[in-house]
Amino acid sequence: MIRKAAGNVWSWIDDRGGVSDALIPIMTHVVPRDARWWYVFGSATLCAFVVQVITGVCLAMVYVPGGGQAYESLQYITNDAFLGSLMRGMHYYGASAMVMLAVVHLTQVYLHATYKYPREMNWMSGVVILFGVLGMAFTGQLLRWDANGVWSVMVAAEMAGRVPLIGTEIAQFLLGGDTVGGATLTRFYVLHVMILPGIIITGVALHMWLVLRHGISEMPKVGDPVDPMTYKREYIERLKRTGEPFWPNAAWRDAVFATCVVLLIVGCAIVFQAPSLDHPANPSSIDANPMPDWYFWWYFAILSMLPSSLETWVILGAPAIGFLLLFFLPLLSNRGERAPSKRPWALAVIFAGVTGFLVLTIYGYKKPWSPDFGVESLSREVVGATEGPVARGGELAFEKGCLYCHVIDGTGGHRGPTLSVIGDRLTREDLVVRINNGGYNMPAFAASLTAGELSDLVAFLQTRGGEPGDPPIQDRDEKATEDH
Ligand code: HEC
Repeated sequence: MIRKAAGNVWSWIDDRGGVSDALIPIMTHVVPRDARWWYVFGSATLCAFVVQVITGVCLAMVYVPGGGQAYESLQYITNDAFLGSLMRGMHYYGASAMVMLAVVHLTQVYLHATYKYPREMNWMSGVVILFGVLGMAFTGQLLRWDANGVWSVMVAAEMAGRVPLIGTEIAQFLLGGDTVGGATLTRFYVLHVMILPGIIITGVALHMWLVLRHGISEMPKVGDPVDPMTYKREYIERLKRTGEPFWPNAAWRDAVFATCVVLLIVGCAIVFQAPSLDHPANPSSIDANPMPDWYFWWYFAILSMLPSSLETWVILGAPAIGFLLLFFLPLLSNRGERAPSKRPWALAVIFAGVTGFLVLTIYGYKKPWSPDFGVESLSREVVGATEGPVARGGELAFEKGCLYCHVIDGTGGHRGPTLSVIGDRLTREDLVVRINNGGYNMPAFAASLTAGELSDLVAFLQTRGGEPGDPPIQDRDEKATEDH
């Protein structure tokens, strides 16, 4: 009775909705026999995305996207809400899994040159999804509304602010104002739960449709180049001879791998827990210990290494060029050999990419962009005086926090430029202006130094550089001292 009713309901839905008509071709479509384990990454990425959507919706039910309450609501989720800690943990490790899987999937597709004819658009839609995913990872950090997230966004706004002509407008649009504040949080929340997921879901739908339309590529073979004139005909013939239905012959590998991914995400969430929240955001304090999520370390590492004159161009240009290159790659070469052994430069690109990523990530782990709050005071040898203004200035460099950001003869952080030879570079006047007004990423000290302290500090800095025993600049350059 119940079975019959259920059967009737199902056949009504199936008839009116066309469920079988849509699903059966998907399940039974023929795929190359040699696909095997190489091809599981795409479906696993999709699976990780589903985990993100489900856990994300759960989090959104409790999370309050407002400057005043975001942090507390996350604390509530982490400490008190039912399964809250698990959901946060899964969403966090799921994000890592998704970024990783998407990149692995892209690498595999690149390695096997699957982006060639007729699958150019598959690749292009994939690149859009990838940047959407990175956008999700980035906006998600801010929603934590702790010092890390806020600081990472300040860097991004700085980046946006450098776009010629309309930079300020873009930055203001992103931040919802001039600085990171409650309005920024709302903006990022909308990006994170509406706009970017919309882009990703549309992209995934197109991507899936294209995968079905053009079929799964066969493993590349040496001496079997892609020729757009003959490819489709040969592909269909080959599938007729050697293909097998997707379900269940090939799908079980996807299922096994995706299950492992989900178990790993749940496992990490249970064992390592959701990351503890950094202290609450205070955009005006430099006392943060900023650290973006690991997949962005390499990028921040590059930024921190650049001389400031180049920074603008790289900050702006690199992501844009990166996107365009990736996006248009299949249009640059959509035919010819697919086998990695015939495309040594492709192997070289992957090798260079992986090495560069690892090296920069390790470098980034040391947070060269961040003030180093663990610095020690300057040794007597470095200061070079035991009393008088120079000695007091040497102490002030430590006490006032200059060493958090500036190295002097090996002591200090790397946020700002070294001051080891600053006496050779700047006059007394310049130094006073710099310290009083601060600069890009340097706080202004006019309010926190007395005239006497400033003068001692400058006297000390003027001794930095040149040959030991050289007179400081003020004696070499009378003009600079005239009006002091
Ligand atoms: C939060 C990090 C930070 C702190 C703290 C800091 N600075 Fe800086 N400082 C920087 C950065 C970043 C620059 C580069 C600014 C630029 O390029 O416009 C800089 C630039 C300078 C310069 C110019 C260097 C050059 O080569 O042109 C001087 C001089 C200087 N700082 C002195 C000081 C002194 C003295 C103190 C302590 C009273 C101090 N700074 C504290 C980050 C900091």
